[in-house]
Amino acid sequence: PAATPQWRPSYHFAPAAHWMNDPNGMVFYQGTYHLFFQYFPGGMTWGPMHWGHATSPDMLHWQEQPIALFPDSLGYIFSGSAVVDSKNTSGFGKNGVAPLVAIFTHHDPKGEKAGSKTFQNQSLAYSLDAGKTWTKYAGNPVVKNPGIVDFRDPKVSWNEQANRWILTLATKDRITFYSSPNLKKWTTESEFGEKLGAHGGVWECPDLFPLTLNGKSHWVLLVNINPGGPNGGSATQYFVGSFDGHTFKPMNDKTKWADFGPDEYAGVTFANTGPRRLFLGWMSNWEYANQVPTSPWRSAMTLPRELGLRQEGSEIYLTSTPARELNKLAAAPTTLQKVAVKAPVDLARLRVPSGKYRLNLSTSQLASFELVLSNTAGEELVLGYDKARNEYFIDRTKAGNTSFSPKFAGRHVAPRLTTAAGADLTLFFDAASVELFADHGLTAMTEIFFPFKPLTSMRLRSATGITFQQVSSAALAPRPTG
Ligand code: FRU
Repeated sequence: PAATPQWRPSYHFAPAAHWMNDPNGMVFYQGTYHLFFQYFPGGMTWGPMHWGHATSPDMLHWQEQPIALFPDSLGYIFSGSAVVDSKNTSGFGKNGVAPLVAIFTHHDPKGEKAGSKTFQNQSLAYSLDAGKTWTKYAGNPVVKNPGIVDFRDPKVSWNEQANRWILTLATKDRITFYSSPNLKKWTTESEFGEKLGAHGGVWECPDLFPLTLNGKSHWVLLVNINPGGPNGGSATQYFVGSFDGHTFKPMNDKTKWADFGPDEYAGVTFANTGPRRLFLGWMSNWEYANQVPTSPWRSAMTLPRELGLRQEGSEIYLTSTPARELNKLAAAPTTLQKVAVKAPVDLARLRVPSGKYRLNLSTSQLASFELVLSNTAGEELVLGYDKARNEYFIDRTKAGNTSFSPKFAGRHVAPRLTTAAGADLTLFFDAASVELFADHGLTAMTEIFFPFKPLTSMRLRSATGITFQQVSSAALAPRPTG
């Protein structure tokens, strides 16, 4: 297919060419963020999985690196994580160099075809040169499949209380926790979730980490699920609760979503980032990922987001805030004060010709409104808030190319989770995506779209009327490298 540079993101990671899905092995090490990813270098649709690799000083300017892990006799290299083994518990370190250790799923396609149930197993690889080259452990696999068809996506972290590594593994319709002193020998600790949360699809790509709220530590368990997301297909749910080094206990059985849009999946967090908890996901959905009309690459990652917790009533929610590194990409903003929307208001003054920008809307009294991005070809992306339903929404039904999949066109919604009168919305537009963060990160929505022509006009409308104290836009452009 013809190349589609008009849909290539400029401040989101996308591989130069070929197929990408989940982020893998994200780790911050010696001043560099490492992003590995599910990658098929042989084509533009999903195929035998490798770990691609990219590095960045700020999670926004990415440099693609040589492929880190190739399929081998044990199978394809499925999703997983990486840690800095600073105490060299694994013994992979040499001459005082602490190893980076990756733990991933070996997926054996031959076993799968033969009808075996044990074709997914967990394995290790390590690097002694800051992630440049990787050696697979001769004793692989380190966690053997007990007979569960979906047995994958290991996420490892050091747990102070247990004084051991804890491995969080997606095991079909639940999470299984394991512990280890050395990353090589694992003991089953507990299971979680068979009867809790969303179960519209298989559980994949989990993550477990603590976050502090008002001086108290809580544990967050992310569980990606496909299908069964709130707007169909793939999505990231989460549980807030406690983890004592052995067992996860949720505070209640409410299903919560880290991102309500259709296009954030397999999101997990970086290892080794100190007190910051940084998250990013794959910006697509298995419902149509193999058909999206970009070329010569397929798929990008979401923006990096810093996670936090917020109490609303008796609930504790996860909040997602675009990483502050984004501020460095932003040009000086253009700001309109006191925008009273009775008749539609043209926002021509806020237009950013590149189409790559951040838009902020703040109001002291939230009411129904629509922000319409459109072009002379009659394409439009409509997003906003519906007061009667207390929902944010993004409608890409007429936003350009939707014909590649019947599942793509649609209007997607997300609940508003606070009762505050005032609201603050931040939108990040890149070439073919929008990410909405409302109420300081309580509600996030990620959505991709493919306009045939740039959406050059922008206006606000409201049936009931709304006043924004401020509407402001700022162009976003990565700094030239070199
Ligand atoms: C999630 C997923 C993982 C798996 C990988 C394979 O998108 O299905 O569960 O490890 O993709 O590419």
